[in-house]
Amino acid sequence: MKKTAKLTSASLIERSDRVLMNTYARFPVAFVRGEGARLWDPEGKEYLDFFSGLAVLNLGHCHPEIVSAVRAQSGLLFHTSNLFYTEPPVRLAEALVEHSFADKVFFCNSGAEANEGAVKLARIYARNRRKDERVGVVTMENSFHGRTLGMISATGQEKVKVGFAPLLEGFQTARFNDLASVTAAASGWAGAVLLEPIQGEGGVFPATPEFITGVRKLCDREGMLLIFDEVQVGIGRTGELFAYQHYGVEPDILTLAKAVGGGLPLGAVLATNAVASAFTPGTHATTFGGNAVATAAGEAVLNVILTGKILENCRRQGKALRSALEKFARKYAGIREIRGRGLIVGMELEDGEKGQRLIRRALDSGLILNLAHGNVVRFLPPLNLTTAELARGLKILEKLLAEILGARDPRGK
Ligand SMILES: Cc1ncc(COP(=O)(O)O)c(C=O)c1O
Repeated sequence: MKKTAKLTSASLIERSDRVLMNTYARFPVAFVRGEGARLWDPEGKEYLDFFSGLAVLNLGHCHPEIVSAVRAQSGLLFHTSNLFYTEPPVRLAEALVEHSFADKVFFCNSGAEANEGAVKLARIYARNRRKDERVGVVTMENSFHGRTLGMISATGQEKVKVGFAPLLEGFQTARFNDLASVTAAASGWAGAVLLEPIQGEGGVFPATPEFITGVRKLCDREGMLLIFDEVQVGIGRTGELFAYQHYGVEPDILTLAKAVGGGLPLGAVLATNAVASAFTPGTHATTFGGNAVATAAGEAVLNVILTGKILENCRRQGKALRSALEKFARKYAGIREIRGRGLIVGMELEDGEKGQRLIRRALDSGLILNLAHGNVVRFLPPLNLTTAELARGLKILEKLLAEILGARDPRGK
């Protein structure tokens, strides 16, 4: 290995471009340290993080209880393979089961892999338990389920599919929040419906209660499974541990990743006993699934969220964030709508290019924001965000809205 000079942002960016594949439109910013809602670059510039590593660090960077759980477990045992028993995945599964609709958990490594597992489970359940060849899956327009071949086939956005044909058969999209469209797409062919309770990558679109209730009833009537992809909105992000809990409707299968591992790669498929029993030895597996260190981190995440006031704080700060943004929408030009729940919030702009500028200027000013779906400023701060941190972020944002969007025409334009 080459000896490297002192790390600077510029040198790291240059080295990265040389050796990492060009799959991400990265900002020219590098980070070396994080704590709570703050990040630092190699030159010592501080940033306020309203993105949380894309909804991964729900308790902020380097939360002491996660750090301590990882340190303790990594001094004991990392990995044994799934041919043997270890305790950390059992402890995390017990906690997930205790606090959800589910009876059983399958651990994997990412959101796409969790969704692949969910679709495999739904198919084998249809064939082996329901004795039924209806194994199609209805997914939603504008959805996002991951980047594997299976999940780009499932995803309802063309942009992720370009250049990758042939895709997998067995998926059909329907319009989100349109029960008639799902009913038509499912007819005579589908064994499951897969949807995000809030579409995250699609621009922060929550499902309506009528839609979720209607799809549940449709699935019950037609003997289909309901799969919720909570990869982005699970683990407290919406102010409940799981987003489905806002709706009073339970899925048959639920997928998790991102925040469930507290920053380590971890995904999970949760299911009822009846459905989970369709998986038997040899049907599904992954080498690292339930890795001891990742699941120990996950257990710490759940402990902190369930024993502290994290969910309450998420709801309170989320409400404050949304009402501040609604005030901005009345004051500045070109803000179309504020949407979201808890601390996943979207601010839709009329002009996506202004959104790009806003994100870039926010970074210059030390605030990390994100643009989803071309024109939706997405806020995903840590759930333990303080009132002072929220106020600091909003102050930076308002200054930039004034600069980039300008004041709204007093006649309401
Ligand atoms: C709802 C949803 N599902 C699945 C995924 C894919 O997760 P991963 O990138 O861990 O494969 C994402 C990622 O953004 C997501 O938001």
